[in-house]
Amino acid sequence: MTDGISRRGFLGAVLTIAAVLGIGRSARVYGAGSGEKWIPAGKSSDYTPGQAKLFKDEKLYVIRKETGFEAMSAKCTHFGCVVDRQADGTYLCPCHKSTFDARGLNTHGPAKKPLVWYQTKEEGGSVFVNIKGIVEPK
Ligand code: FES
Repeated sequence: MTDGISRRGFLGAVLTIAAVLGIGRSARVYGAGSGEKWIPAGKSSDYTPGQAKLFKDEKLYVIRKETGFEAMSAKCTHFGCVVDRQADGTYLCPCHKSTFDARGLNTHGPAKKPLVWYQTKEEGGSVFVNIKGIVEPK
C-alpha cells in the first residue's frame, strides 16, 4: 500500500472494524490475511489439561482446554513485550504493567487492545497454530 499507510496497518484497521461490526463471526477465522502459516506447537500428549505453554520466540501461548487447543498471542498490544501468564490465568505485561484477563481482554494499563487469538488444529498427534488465522476467543 502507499499513501502513508502500510499494508499491515490497513489490514489491522479492517480487522478491527470487522470485529466491531461482527463481520465474519460465522466464519470463525476472520483474519486469514494473506493465507495460512501453520507452525508446530509440540505433541498433543505433552500438554496436560489446562496447561499453557509459552513459545517465546513466536510470542505465543498454546493452551490445552477440555475441548482442544487454543492459541493466543503473547505480544502485548502496547509495545509488543511478551506478557506473563499469572497463576489465575490472567496476563501481566512486565514492561508497563498492562493487564489482560484470561480471554486476553485488556483490563488495565496503557494497552488499548485485546490480545489476538489464532486458529489451531491437531494433526498426527501434534498441535499446530495458524499464525495468520485470527479467530475470536472461545
Ligand atoms: S509493552 Fe506492554 S504495557 Fe507497554
